[in-house]
Amino acid sequence: MQNIYDAHPADAGEADLILLGAWCHGLFILLQHPDKPWVAFAKRLPDLSGKKVALFTTYKLATGSMFKKMRKHLKLGENQSLEIFKSKNGSLSEEDRKRLLEWIKS
Ligand SMILES: Cc1cc2nc3c(=O)[nH]c(=O)nc-3n(C[C@H](O)[C@H](O)[C@H](O)COP(=O)(O)O)c2cc1C
Repeated sequence: MQNIYDAHPADAGEADLILLGAWCHGLFILLQHPDKPWVAFAKRLPDLSGKKVALFTTYKLATGSMFKKMRKHLKLGENQSLEIFKSKNGSLSEEDRKRLLEWIKS
């Protein structure tokens, strides 16, 4: 796990699977989006078409358009499916932990 300030975006091109996380920024019930440093990092990532990619956000009330906005900044295949995970306290629910492990193994 690396924070976006230490990570080298090009390394994602060599990774087998990529899980990208950002905190949810918005007006609490609408207009959610990732923050500017995350967007700047995401734009520098290589083409992730065909790779296994998952998105994660922490939030307090509602994630709304967060995942759609995160996806918008990534270079992905048109119909590429993504796993998404969210958490209000930074930890994953038991159900999401299982889903994450299944995604890693798949
Ligand atoms: C300026 C600002 C805007 C935020 N907007 C939202 C929002 O639209 N929806 C939401 O659920 N949480 C929102 N949050 C809460 C953050 O997502 C939350 O604080 C962050 O995920 C980190 O979690 P933590 O405070 O428990 O470390 C906002 C926080 C801030 C500071």
